[in-house]
Amino acid sequence: ERIQGKADSADKGGYRHFMLKEIFEQPAVVKNTLQGRLGSDHILEQSFGNGASDILDKVQSVQIVACGTSYHAGMVAKYWIEGIAGIPCRVEVASEFRYRKFVVSPGTLLVTISQSGETADTLAALRLAKELDYCATLTVCNVAQSSLVRESDLALMTEAGPEIGVASTKAFTTQLTALLILTVALGRRYAIDKVKEAAIVSALHSLPGTLATALELDDEICGIAETFADKHHALFLGRGIQWPIAMEGALKLKEISYIHAESYPAGELKHGPLALVDDDMPVVAVAPNDELLEKLKSNLEEVQARGGQLYVFADKQAGFKNESGLTVIPVPHSEEIVAPILYTLPLQLLSYHVAVFKGTDVDQPRNLAKSVTVE
Ligand code: G6P
Repeated sequence: ERIQGKADSADKGGYRHFMLKEIFEQPAVVKNTLQGRLGSDHILEQSFGNGASDILDKVQSVQIVACGTSYHAGMVAKYWIEGIAGIPCRVEVASEFRYRKFVVSPGTLLVTISQSGETADTLAALRLAKELDYCATLTVCNVAQSSLVRESDLALMTEAGPEIGVASTKAFTTQLTALLILTVALGRRYAIDKVKEAAIVSALHSLPGTLATALELDDEICGIAETFADKHHALFLGRGIQWPIAMEGALKLKEISYIHAESYPAGELKHGPLALVDDDMPVVAVAPNDELLEKLKSNLEEVQARGGQLYVFADKQAGFKNESGLTVIPVPHSEEIVAPILYTLPLQLLSYHVAVFKGTDVDQPRNLAKSVTVE
């Protein structure tokens, strides 16, 4: 099914769509993004560029600004930077940030995240920030010659290669990879000791292999995608650091299949969205084996009790079993720290296959542009 075999598909590497090719490139491009930045048990901070260490020494807090999928990468990074590095971190969509009055605390690093490096709102936010009291600016970006890279003090490049599909896939996972490295670089000055750093570096070393295993779920996910094709709405749930992954899963489904998808932190279900749940509403949940698992399970029981059709992407050790109304898609076990990167892949595959079933233009969805360089 994946191979088209037509001459004009040559640059799709034999895949039916660029998006699928880009999904399958993720183990390799994440590896490229790690290249030169990891020692055996520590990160190589000098690989961030000249003067990086001096700049990082000054950082007391972080403000992240981005749009779309890149904003979701920033949301994940907030959990890492506050939860592991022990540094205050705020995240905002660029179109809001640039038009709002806000307070800049001393020693704040402004971090932009962008695949293209040309998104108008993100670039405007950077230019605005340079007039203000930020201690420095850093961009996590995929295009070396872009405006964001040229105009920022530091650039942490993602090595995703050209991304053609309008819906971002490999740019997101390489952004997350770069942001985890940034978390360690910042956190070794705060709450990350040598033992913790070595554990994160070890999880990063094995990440490309783990991602490759997750892609083996492709056929199984294709099998469940058909049940989504005639739905008009879907709900995506996660808790903690997996909430932004659920947000990104919902965004992918909206972008390419045109199904209305919303994401919620699962604990908020009872404050509204539960009213929407019936047997015509697929509910997708991201359930790694983390400390919030038991709480998530009780949220999901509330969905089941209302006849909602649950699709749970769960760690093999999380103890979910297939039953009526509950389909479990077992995701390979990984270190908890990299789980957000890992769980992204099956959600990308789900939207992809739903869109293919619906017959939409996967690589060029209606009304959307790859790079939004005007306001
Ligand atoms: C557009 C694209 C999205 C992307 C967003 C931000 O909306 O369709 O896929 O996430 O722009 O783009 P950037 O290049 O700044 O990451």
